Amino acid sequence: MSNYNIKHIEEYYQLYRKSVNEPELFWEEIAEEHFLWQKKWDKVLSWDFRKPEIKWFEGAKLNITENCLDRHLINKGDKTAILFEPNNPTEEAVHITYNELHERVCKMANVLKDRGLNKGDRVCLYLPMIPELVISMLACARIGVVHSVVFAGFSSLALATRINDSECKMVVTSDGSYRGSKTIDLKGIVDVALKECSCVKDVLVVNRVGSEIKMIPGRDHWLEPLMSKASSVCTAEIMDAEDPLFILYTSGSTGKPKGMLHTIAGYMVYVAYTFKNVFQYKENDIYWCSADIGWITGHSYITYGPLANGATSVLFEGVPSYPGYGRFWEVIQKHKVTQFYTAPTAIRALAREDVSYVEKYDLSSLKVLGTVGEPINEEAWHWYDDCIGKNKSPIVDTFFQTETGGIMLTPIPYITPTKPTYATLPFIGVQPALMDEKGNELIGNQVEGRLCIKYPWPSIARTIWGDHERYKATYFSAFDNKYFTGDGALRDEVGYYRITGRVDDVIIVSGHNLGTAPIEDVINEHPDVAESAIVGYPHHIKGNALYSYITLKSINRDQNIVRKEINQLITERIGPISKLEKIQFTNGLPKTRSGKIMRRILRKIAHNESNDLGDISTLLNPEVVEDIIGNKLV
Ligand code: PRX
Repeated sequence: MSNYNIKHIEEYYQLYRKSVNEPELFWEEIAEEHFLWQKKWDKVLSWDFRKPEIKWFEGAKLNITENCLDRHLINKGDKTAILFEPNNPTEEAVHITYNELHERVCKMANVLKDRGLNKGDRVCLYLPMIPELVISMLACARIGVVHSVVFAGFSSLALATRINDSECKMVVTSDGSYRGSKTIDLKGIVDVALKECSCVKDVLVVNRVGSEIKMIPGRDHWLEPLMSKASSVCTAEIMDAEDPLFILYTSGSTGKPKGMLHTIAGYMVYVAYTFKNVFQYKENDIYWCSADIGWITGHSYITYGPLANGATSVLFEGVPSYPGYGRFWEVIQKHKVTQFYTAPTAIRALAREDVSYVEKYDLSSLKVLGTVGEPINEEAWHWYDDCIGKNKSPIVDTFFQTETGGIMLTPIPYITPTKPTYATLPFIGVQPALMDEKGNELIGNQVEGRLCIKYPWPSIARTIWGDHERYKATYFSAFDNKYFTGDGALRDEVGYYRITGRVDDVIIVSGHNLGTAPIEDVINEHPDVAESAIVGYPHHIKGNALYSYITLKSINRDQNIVRKEINQLITERIGPISKLEKIQFTNGLPKTRSGKIMRRILRKIAHNESNDLGDISTLLNPEVVEDIIGNKLV
């Protein structure tokens, strides 16, 4: 018998040992006892990190929506599956039961089928945080269509790049989206994007804001009339364990986003099991993750993990500051939220506001608090613990990645003693290793190195869509026979892990994973720019912000105008999340003799550590460094 719900620290250690010593047996028992299979697997795991190739539950047949919906209908049909809290608090919250969700998913799946979509086709979901987003994901999964959710804050160009990369046949969007007091013209962004996407044949449009929009005959269809005509019976497509479930794009160290591909069975088992334990979900709990479904946190811990456990998952359309800074706390009081999972950047932003915004509300329903997406600083951790959790709700600082699918390092609430800023211990089945730069594993405690994982876990991404070589080069080449996260970490005297931050060219700004290369590519497109380099520097709310060093071709124009134009260009090409906080114009950038920009030096300068640059005499142009230091922006 497997133990699905860990209840004591001894159990954690015992299960952890089993998951390391007999990983196949461990995961086989979990999979067998807690999920619905049309056929069991022939082999639990086959893997080779050098190829790399990873397969879990090979030979098994299933449909993830039967696990997330159908099997709950007998006992929990009337239970709320999705609790939708709209952007505007005057609009009523909507409780969607498992019965209703099942019906709407089946209808939508039939709509997709009627439009000619087949197993294996890709559909891009560019939607706000509304129930139709969850419904669309599950409708795709119902018929074996691969969804690619693109965060609705991305620009038309970023959207087009992602649609084309996975050759999506359809886009599902809405007429617009609400974001605090603003309304955003989502359909307009899609229209611009689709000028570049010949692969898209159909656009389904949800009526959310009721704005006037242009519908292109033959291509664009309102979703509601199609749904009302569709049958609510849709047999789930029988899928192979290793068939693709979704693609989700993340940034990397080149301009092209990486479409991480997740497959069905392993992903399902791991996110369901982590959800149950990391949040200690109990039957009548009201769980709320405030992340956007456009990111992995939303995929795994708003949609699939909670629904696979028959949980009630709050779906929040709004922002933490609208209509006031008390919105999060108001929602917690209103729905008696028991688990609340958010990002350090939101905590820092709200902690700056008067504590009366919190004190107005009754937060006594809370049992577990979570954070994810970036390192949480000590001050924010204590504020969260004191003001929100009243020192009674343990904080789970959960580390994971788009690539890992599910949570990798985390305390288990009420079980693992927490420590501020530490993600503490590996989750069951996760075998971390810290490596030095020479590729040796650092053994023992009180060490710091690069964080790798030595053994496959079920929800690891299987490839980068269309580019397996890049998958290998990015994650499996830095260290032999290990998955490399790209993060640095330390292990303290008791074996607790703390993530120290990225060691590659990715910068985490407000919890968003931004690669420097795509942003630099856009900056360099500005006609006045000769070259550019961006680095991250510490920021009191965003965690990190972007500091750019830019060399202009001519210096005749008003520099502030050029600054505005560059940020405008970034907003258009990528989206406002990638805007530069600081733009310093320079006479040149420090380079090695082979012409490589020395970002290490630029990073030190942006961090106010210019007295510790090391030996710069080997640079091609050491003279520019003095100049850059002298003109540093404060
Ligand atoms: O640097 C780590 C940071 O976020 C990166 C992954 O970003 P993304 O794929 O967008 O997924 C974010 C949500 C899971 C990681 O490589 N990160 C994530 N969680 C933590 C974190 N850094 C520190 N502490 C965390 N708890």
